[in-house]
This record gives sequence, structure tokens and C-alpha cells, in this order.
Amino acid sequence: MKTIANHQLPCEVVQSTYAKNKLKSKIVHLGFGAFHRAHQALYTDQTNQVEGSDWGICEVNLFGGEDLIESLRAQDHCFSVVLKGAEGTQAHIVRSVTESLHPEFDGLPAVLEKMAEPQVEIVSLTVTEKGYCIDAATGKLDLNNPLIVADLTNPSSPKTALGIIVQALKLRRERGLDPFTVMSCDNIQENGAVTKGVILGYASLVEPEMRDWIEANVTFPCTMVDRIVPAVTAESLNEIAQTLGCEDPCGVVCEPFRQWVIEDNFVSGRPNWDIVGAEFVDDVVPYEEMKLRMLNGSHSFLAYMGYLAGYEHISDTMEDPAFKQVALDLMLKEQASSLVMPEGTDLVAYANMLIDRYSNPNLKHRTWQIAMDGSQKIPQRLGGSLHYHLKHQSSFKIIATAIAGWMRYVSGSDEQGKPIEVSDPMSQQLRTICDAHGLNVSVVPSLLALESIFPAEIGKDQRVIDAVSNAYQSLLDKGARQTVADLVVE
Ligand SMILES: NC(=O)c1ccc[n+]([C@@H]2O[C@H](COP(=O)([O-])OP(=O)(O)OC[C@H]3O[C@@H](n4cnc5c(N)ncnc54)[C@H](O)[C@@H]3O)[C@@H](O)[C@H]2O)c1
Repeated sequence: MKTIANHQLPCEVVQSTYAKNKLKSKIVHLGFGAFHRAHQALYTDQTNQVEGSDWGICEVNLFGGEDLIESLRAQDHCFSVVLKGAEGTQAHIVRSVTESLHPEFDGLPAVLEKMAEPQVEIVSLTVTEKGYCIDAATGKLDLNNPLIVADLTNPSSPKTALGIIVQALKLRRERGLDPFTVMSCDNIQENGAVTKGVILGYASLVEPEMRDWIEANVTFPCTMVDRIVPAVTAESLNEIAQTLGCEDPCGVVCEPFRQWVIEDNFVSGRPNWDIVGAEFVDDVVPYEEMKLRMLNGSHSFLAYMGYLAGYEHISDTMEDPAFKQVALDLMLKEQASSLVMPEGTDLVAYANMLIDRYSNPNLKHRTWQIAMDGSQKIPQRLGGSLHYHLKHQSSFKIIATAIAGWMRYVSGSDEQGKPIEVSDPMSQQLRTICDAHGLNVSVVPSLLALESIFPAEIGKDQRVIDAVSNAYQSLLDKGARQTVADLVVE
């Protein structure tokens, strides 16, 4: 079969030329998902190309994705990333991956042994929010998570990313090896601090001494990552095959824009990702908040309101002038005001660039995909700025509409009465509350009472209850399109 490893690719496909067999697996990455492939793996490939470095990645999928790992192996661990801009398409072949493992067919000991190899300097993660096993109410390790319960019972044979990292660090310590840096690249606020918190929380229950050793020896840099990488579909794989002249089951399509801001805090070495555009900084938090509130916050608004309005993709919402204007207003009037940025940051330019990115018609980013896991996303994307507005007595009409949109969405049926497939770790609980009220504004205070999503000082504030109720009632009376149109300020 023709694969990208044995087939003459069209000359316009960009390929690095360094000797792949000289790379060392100095990074073990947990979560060979679409995002990692289009982001860290590509940055690493380009860094190796520019400076002749030998940073190789061993890819590991812990849950699912067995087929992807098998396909990756069948094509010499190379895959394609196709950048689709409004103006054109550019395909890249990523060659920075050296090897791959899956506990399902390689066994967990192989994964642990790989992480305990002397050359490993970084263990990075894109395991989605769920992979961190966080109790949303406390922000700490969720001790009721069944996988954590299982790992605590059998810590030498763990299943979670956290348990595996702690066990691998334990092996390194026992063997007198240096630790590795643990670098989260998931979209979680202060992802490094959160990762450190859950890992220390877990380690303290397994072996308190290990907890102290990790705290003293391991670093957890925070990162802010950005690039829209829609979930892979049969259509995107077909497009990739057309571009390459052969199939690539590991290929991804994404937008041309990318950003990566990394706290420069590594226990051992790190690639010079900055030579290909990443930024190493002392404090990532302001950049993260900028992105979470402006990009992710407006994305959630567009996802819920857009889905309800019948728009399948984010770019479809941008063809509706009211959606475009209100998304920009949300960013500049309600989200930017809550941010404290380093001098020289141009938030107006950032917001306009986001609107341009959303408008790219070649990027099929589904509103349904962004709407997933709202219970986990709303606190970070809208909670901080809501808190700011309550404190400063300022307007938060659009934020309230985004929350009302989420509430209407999780009711499980759209404006035509068709079922919505609500994908959320709290979907059962949300459904029970929604079913008890039917499509009635009385659901608003009940959902706002969910303290894991809305802390009491927000969820019980009458100003929030009133604003979200008004928006929810408007959704029931007029529908999503008119509700958004009504938000346009002349
Ligand atoms: N796709 C994007 O546009 C984008 C942009 C910025 C950041 N991100 C971040 O990347 C993450 C992954 O996104 P993606 O597009 O690659 O998704 P994906 O579905 O393609 O991949 C998800 C990966 O997470 C792993 N995973 C899922 N649950 C896990 C668990 N409980 N424990 C361990 N591993 C688990 C899967 O094995 C898979 O490798 C997102 O959650 C987000 O935090 C994505």
C-alpha cells in the first residue's frame, strides 16, 4: 500500500531533510491527538530542521487511539499536517516522531520503561481536561474518580496519566536518574500548576516521600497553546489524500495560525522551540487568560448560540453579521476589560485577528465540537470575567447570553425539537435538572446552583440570575438568531 513513507510526495509538500535516525526519544508525549500532531510535533520537527538538534518524540496513547498508533508505525512514524488558510493550502510532513507505544498492545511496563530511559528529558501531555482527574469543585485531585481509585489501589500498575508519571518518576529515582520535566499542553488555566497539584496530590497518597521528592526535583512549566485543529473526519482525511497522493490516517488539517507561550522552567534540556516561533517567558498566566477569555470565551459563545441558530461550523457563524459583531463585542467590551496584560499587548489587534481566524471558510470547526464539555470549560472561559464585572458593577450581557445558550443547549433538544447529543462529563446531572423544568426559565437558578461550575458568589448573585434568565427567556421567545441580533449595539 502507498503510504507517505514509501511514496514520492508532490514537490510542494514541505518536508524536513535532517537524518531522522539520529533523533533520540528525549520527549515522551502522552496523547497522540489531533492537536499535538499539528502543534508540538510540528514545532519540534521544524526546530530540528533549523538547528540540527536531535529532539525525537515517543508517542503514547493511553486511552483509545490504538488504530492511530498502528497506522503511525506503518508509515515510519511520519504524518502530515495540512494548513488551510482562506487563501490556500500548505502541507507539511512531520518527521520528529521516533517511536510509539500503546499499553493495550505493548503493555504498560513498556511505557513505564520508556519514560524511565536516561535520555528522556520531557514528558508532555495533551490528554484533554478529563485526563487530569480534577474535582471541578475543589480544583484538586478527584478522589472519587474510579480510575484514580483503581490507581491508588494498585499504584505500580496505573492507568491514568498521573499514576503513570508518578510511577515512572519513582523508577527514575530508584535508578538514580535525573527526573524529567512534566509539560502540559492542554487548554487548562495554569496547566502546569494544575498538573503539579494533581500529581503531588496523587503521590502523597501513594508514597509521601515521593511527593516531597517530586516537589523538590520536578518542574511543571505552564504553557499557552493555540492553533485550531478540528477533529479529523472522513472528509478531512480525503482532502489530505488528495493533497498527498496517498492516504495518511494520521494526518490532520488545521489553520495556519499557531501560538505557543512556554514558561521557561525545565529541569533538564528543552528544544529551542523559540527559533521557530514559540515564546519562552517567565510568566504565562496573562497570555493564558487572554486566550481563555478572548478566544475560548468567544468560541463557547459562538458554539452554543451558533449551534442553536443552526450553524454547523464557526465559519458559518461569521457569515451572520450579528454573530460577528457580538463575538467582537464580547471580546473587547466584556472579556478584554478583565485582563491585565504585559505592556505593549494589543488586545484590539488580537480580537480582530481572532475574527479573521474564525472567518476562514476552509476550516471546518464544528460548533458541536466546541460545545463539548461545557461544564468543564465555562468556569475558565467566562467565570473570571463574570467575577470581574460583578466586582466592578459593569455590564456582562453577552457573557450572560453565552451561559443561557449553554443552558438551552444542554436541555438536549434544539430549536426545531431535534435531539442534541450533549457530550459532557456532567451530562446526566444536567439532563436531570433540565428534564425537571422542561424548557422553562425556572431552570436557570437550578443550573446556576451547580457550584462546580458556578461558585456561590456568582451562581447565587441575583444580578447573574436576572441577566441569564433574561437571555434564556429571549432564547425561548425569539430563538438564538434574534437573541444575538438584539445584542448588536447600533
Ligand atoms: N484541537 C484544538 O484545536 C486544540 C487547541 C488547543 C489546545 N487543545 C488541547 O488539546 C487537547 C486534545 O485535543 P485534540 O484535538 O488533540 O483531541 P483528540 O480527541 O484528537 O485527542 C485526545 C487525546 O487525549 C487522549 N485522552 C483522552 N482522554 C484521556 C484520559 N482520560 N487520559 C489520558 N489520555 C486521554 C486520547 O488518547 C487522545 O490522544 C484538548 O483537550 C485541548 O486541551 C486542542
